[in-house]
Amino acid sequence: MRIRKLFLWLFFNIKYLGKPRWDTGQSPPELLDFIKNHPAGRVLDLGCGTGTNCLTMARSGWQTTGIDLAGRAIRKALSRFQAAGLNGEFLASDITHVNLPDNEFDLVLDIGCYHSLPADSRAIYRKNVAVWLKPGGWYMVYGHVPASSAQPDFGLSDQDIAAFQKVLRLERREDGMDHGERKAVWLWFTKPAK
Ligand SMILES: C[S@@+](CC[C@H](N)C(=O)[O-])C[C@H]1O[C@@H](n2cnc3c(N)ncnc32)[C@H](O)[C@@H]1O
Repeated sequence: MRIRKLFLWLFFNIKYLGKPRWDTGQSPPELLDFIKNHPAGRVLDLGCGTGTNCLTMARSGWQTTGIDLAGRAIRKALSRFQAAGLNGEFLASDITHVNLPDNEFDLVLDIGCYHSLPADSRAIYRKNVAVWLKPGGWYMVYGHVPASSAQPDFGLSDQDIAAFQKVLRLERREDGMDHGERKAVWLWFTKPAK
């Protein structure tokens, strides 16, 4: 697993030497719809990349924290916030090795990060999300659906969804395609209020 983590770190850092395909500068309609229908609060963006979705949320009055293991992406996110005259917190870190306050976030967002995590990181990630969310808070995640069971290391599978449901309540699921090519899924969970 250590080798896979090192591979992922290298992969993403190298990708940000250029402009990766996912770095469109546009927030998806699912997030815009969420912002429209929920009051501003505190958001944690896991695998925030160059900060596009943090920027969108900060412009709508949200207090943002973004985490990404690619230092180059985090530096770009910081300079975009600076140029926009906005405040936001950014951490260059692996999301499974970061300390954040419990019961703090109204929304935890993940657009395209969970689906590439190694198996041993996934359980830590799920536990962290459930701890970091406020009771009643939302977790939104977008990921590719595994193309086949022969590719167990990549994708957001039904087994992952079942594992999330042990700690969070699934509110909504929308299946679709990524750029018309790969199967993908959006999921909305809440943390049950005690
Ligand atoms: C497909 S990109 C999406 C970036 C961003 N969410 C967006 O929509 O533009 C996935 C991001 O997750 C980050 N990432 C992958 N594994 C990570 C980990 N263990 N900890 C923190 N970030 C991670 C990558 O560096 C990359 O920026």
